[in-house]
Amino acid sequence: MELKYSKKYIALVIGLGLSAGLVACSDSNEANVAPVDNAPASEVVEVEVASVEEVVGSEAEGSELVASESVGALSEEDCSAELSSDDSMQFSTKQIIVPAGCQQFTINFAHLGSKPKDSMGHNVVVAKTSDLNNVINDGVGAGAANDYVKPNDERVVAHTKLLGGGEKDSIVLDVATLKDDRYSYVCTYPGHGGVMRGKFKVE
Ligand code: CO
Repeated sequence: MELKYSKKYIALVIGLGLSAGLVACSDSNEANVAPVDNAPASEVVEVEVASVEEVVGSEAEGSELVASESVGALSEEDCSAELSSDDSMQFSTKQIIVPAGCQQFTINFAHLGSKPKDSMGHNVVVAKTSDLNNVINDGVGAGAANDYVKPNDERVVAHTKLLGGGEKDSIVLDVATLKDDRYSYVCTYPGHGGVMRGKFKVE
């Protein structure tokens, strides 16, 4: 039997399961479980606590659900890239390959240097290559208070915070957006955008 529960719900079920033996399992479990089948996760949260006691059939069932979620987390690792910079004015790569099979792609960005962000700040700002220069100019104009990104700039697909040495931040991109290979990433810290930039390639 496959049940779709929200994480919150699973935690509740496991919690109850671990309370060992406090719950007497009735023979009518199946009947009580049935309405939950195929229910959207958002609705499952609303299941009354009274019926949760009856749904707790075994700890094993709860463990299975958690295990299948872990498998999902593993496959996501293929849809990410590590990007870094340091106290020199450059990214670790000028091209990021995005697997076409990914729906979303995560960039984990790290500033591996030691200088503070007000003298050697770095961010990762994603926009169409054709918009890059304007995004940089407006970003510089927006100032440090805005991490050198113009607030609500519709040309910016995603951006990290402005980082100083030792800091890291991540962004998640929809791969469908990147598919025409017209997108780039750039650091908009003043003076960095000319050299700190690279392109996405989906393949
Ligand atoms: Co920079």
